[in-house]
Amino acid sequence: MNSYDFRGKRVLITGASMGIGERFARILAARGAKLILVARSKDKLEALARELGDAAVIAEDLAAPGSAERVLAQVRALGLTVDVLVNNAGFGKYGSFDDVPLDELRSMVDLNVRSLVEMTHEFMPMLVANRGGVIQVASTAAFQPVPYMAVYGASKAFVLSFSEALWAEYRPRGVRVLALCPGATETPFFARAGEAAAFGAKASPDAVVALGLDAFSAGRASVIHGAGNNMVAAINRLFPRAMVAKISARLMQPKPALPAVAS
Ligand SMILES: NC(=O)c1ccc[n+]([C@@H]2O[C@H](COP(=O)([O-])OP(=O)(O)OC[C@H]3O[C@@H](n4cnc5c(N)ncnc54)[C@H](OP(=O)(O)O)[C@@H]3O)[C@@H](O)[C@H]2O)c1
Repeated sequence: MNSYDFRGKRVLITGASMGIGERFARILAARGAKLILVARSKDKLEALARELGDAAVIAEDLAAPGSAERVLAQVRALGLTVDVLVNNAGFGKYGSFDDVPLDELRSMVDLNVRSLVEMTHEFMPMLVANRGGVIQVASTAAFQPVPYMAVYGASKAFVLSFSEALWAEYRPRGVRVLALCPGATETPFFARAGEAAAFGAKASPDAVVALGLDAFSAGRASVIHGAGNNMVAAINRLFPRAMVAKISARLMQPKPALPAVAS
């Protein structure tokens, strides 16, 4: 596969108002791409679009039913076509399974899984016609069960499996499909997920995005950011899954509070 030149290509990025999605927008704009920015925070998206130049804004709650159809309808109404889709919007929540409200878990599945499938399905005909592709933002959480973030880990395992299957299915048609798997990354993600969700040192979002764009261009099926994360994902495969789950539980379990220091 030839390398992919983003110059003049139209890229739709979900979750572009902050974090990894915002970095995708800035780096792709610097590489000459034209953007469509999607998230709920219209003001933030409009401010970013003004800064970046050729960027359209679609404010949409992607966890809501029918959102992918509405995004496609708005893209069509703007008279635009999409070459590359970046399904980046997602969130996690740290906590014991029964402590996290069901509404929040449902919303996580709706955003991380349902919306990602629906966006991919709605835009695939355009991606095929334009011989472009899709970058699905998964996570290193995809490579083992994640106790205390069970639904989040399962949602990212879904994204990885789904993306690898589509990669094999669409390669013969010249369409790229990549699962980008960051480990802990320095973004506002942890304000919502809880700091206990962070495992290891946080990487720079710019480095994560640059790796993703290189891997997409090279036509890879998946890529993991960081040497340590690559090693953990490889080692996980050598052990029984129940053992990996038990080790993960030990690493992820709530830490006892430190005793108060008398002043
Ligand atoms: N940061 C990490 O350590 C890390 C590690 C591995 C994987 N990831 C994955 O990377 C992706 C981006 O995460 P991040 O770290 O950049 O998180 P973030 O800083 O919290 O940003 C999340 C983005 O998603 C958007 N979003 C959230 N709910 C949405 C909804 N219902 N509808 C539309 N947009 C929504 C947010 O915008 P609005 O609030 O304006 O809607 C925001 O732009 C996620 O899929 C995450 O799972 C992150």
